[in-house]
Amino acid sequence: MSSNEYIVYTDGSCSGNPGPGGWAAIIRFGEEEEELSGSTAATTNQRMELTAAVEALSQIPSGSAVMVFSDSAYLVNCFQQSWMDRWQKNGWRNSKGDPVENRDLWLKLLELTGKLNVKWHKVKGHGDDQLNNRVDQMAREAINQDHLGVDETARSCQNDQWPTLKLNKTGKRIGVLTGGGDCPGLNAVIRAVVKGAAHNYGLEVVGFNNGFKGLVENDAQVINDLAVSGILNRGGTILGTSNRDNPFDYKPSGSDYTKTGEDRSADALANLERWGISCLVVIGGDGSLLLAHRFSELGVPIIGIPKTIDNDLPATDITFGFDSAVTTATEAIDKIHTTAESHHRIMVVEVMGRHVGWIALQAGMAGGGDIILIPELPFEFSCIAAKINERRSLGKKFSIIVVAEGAYLAGGEPLYEDRGGVKRLGGIGPLVSREIEKMTGMESRATVLGHLQRGGSPTSYDRVLATRFGVKAVELVDDKNFNRMVCLKGNNIQSVTLEEAVAGTKRVDPDSEQVRSAVAVGTSFGCRF
Ligand code: F6P
Repeated sequence: MSSNEYIVYTDGSCSGNPGPGGWAAIIRFGEEEEELSGSTAATTNQRMELTAAVEALSQIPSGSAVMVFSDSAYLVNCFQQSWMDRWQKNGWRNSKGDPVENRDLWLKLLELTGKLNVKWHKVKGHGDDQLNNRVDQMAREAINQDHLGVDETARSCQNDQWPTLKLNKTGKRIGVLTGGGDCPGLNAVIRAVVKGAAHNYGLEVVGFNNGFKGLVENDAQVINDLAVSGILNRGGTILGTSNRDNPFDYKPSGSDYTKTGEDRSADALANLERWGISCLVVIGGDGSLLLAHRFSELGVPIIGIPKTIDNDLPATDITFGFDSAVTTATEAIDKIHTTAESHHRIMVVEVMGRHVGWIALQAGMAGGGDIILIPELPFEFSCIAAKINERRSLGKKFSIIVVAEGAYLAGGEPLYEDRGGVKRLGGIGPLVSREIEKMTGMESRATVLGHLQRGGSPTSYDRVLATRFGVKAVELVDDKNFNRMVCLKGNNIQSVTLEEAVAGTKRVDPDSEQVRSAVAVGTSFGCRF
């Protein structure tokens, strides 16, 4: 067999061990290496066995040849006799018309087997035939190799017992997740973490899907070099993300987000243990880093990597994603400019940024906005109208207003839209447009750029910053310099404690040289100062 051929053996029980445990072992053939991984300590048969099989198959690189031996009639028949095809056609009901249990796990298995060349073999039960003995023997040999970090219970299992495996001892595996709103550059950083970990420190990376949700629900897989090939320039995140799944206040999808959820942090901890994770790399903004900090207080070694288009984290000069969002917003303002000019209109462009004005300031200056409205400088309509009238008196028949979504009227507060109990910033752009049209008598239109700013390819700046952050993160892991966040200071990549990382918000300083430069070229901030 060559190095990309695997044997997976699954079993639903471990007689003699305290409580039942489903597990799956992987044995890789080729070169001189034999490797074994597996899981789990769980409740009862089918779900546990399926979970183990999903975990085991997740660890095998796409395109590999895999032989699965299992004494589970259910698992093997499902594939050998295409039960799953029938279930799918039947709306996930079995031949009796009952709903098929564990649909989520079957679908995951189907997805995984689609990427592998899997042959399913049913065996009678361990130790019953020659083939099974051979697999058994190889598994045992692998278990007895110390570097696999199998615990004592496993080694002391009698010959007719299958061990419950734990791989938490070697420190050879790290976890990674992307949390919060996505932004360009997330894939670049995942790639840097995986490549940096594997090439320099021999560390394997497990990716948890959909932010902290994957950690709670044990939705994860090993991601190797192949899995991150070709993703440097891709927007989004191959791991998926979520900005509503807090393990300490967990609400299942579709539930009422206004109600208090469950504390599922123990499940998250169990899953980290199950996967043998020695350090969790959290790529996120303030919300995700706060959660990371809470896990560090529970004893999980953490490394944070700052991301957000808002650029509002205090401990880093720049977050990746910001430059890409600003580039998108600037291009949009350039386009709005030509139509503003043709129609002699006041065009209002609303950009993101939450409660800070970094995107509005940066894109507003780069796009030549005449008026820039940011939360740090509450505005007055009379000042905006005065600026537009001043321009009109100079023969300038159009104006561009760039407004941050969190900007607000002096004496007022930011505008929100209620989305199913969750408050989201929004509405200020159209409001400014309507009011200014009334006050100046000039026609006005508003464009809300919204999630366009989070999509698409990262700029070269963000690709490089993300790569530097990812490489630094695994360097910190290797140094066991945990509970820190990587950051940019000047042009140097450094790190700060997680406490510093989550302390406060970085806001635009109205007295800064950048704001003064904008004012010096005639830009108004819609207020007197
Ligand atoms: O934090 C990033 C960000 O894009 C903010 O600029 C914006 O207010 C928010 O996320 C939007 O969140 P959602 O994707 O949930 O609409």
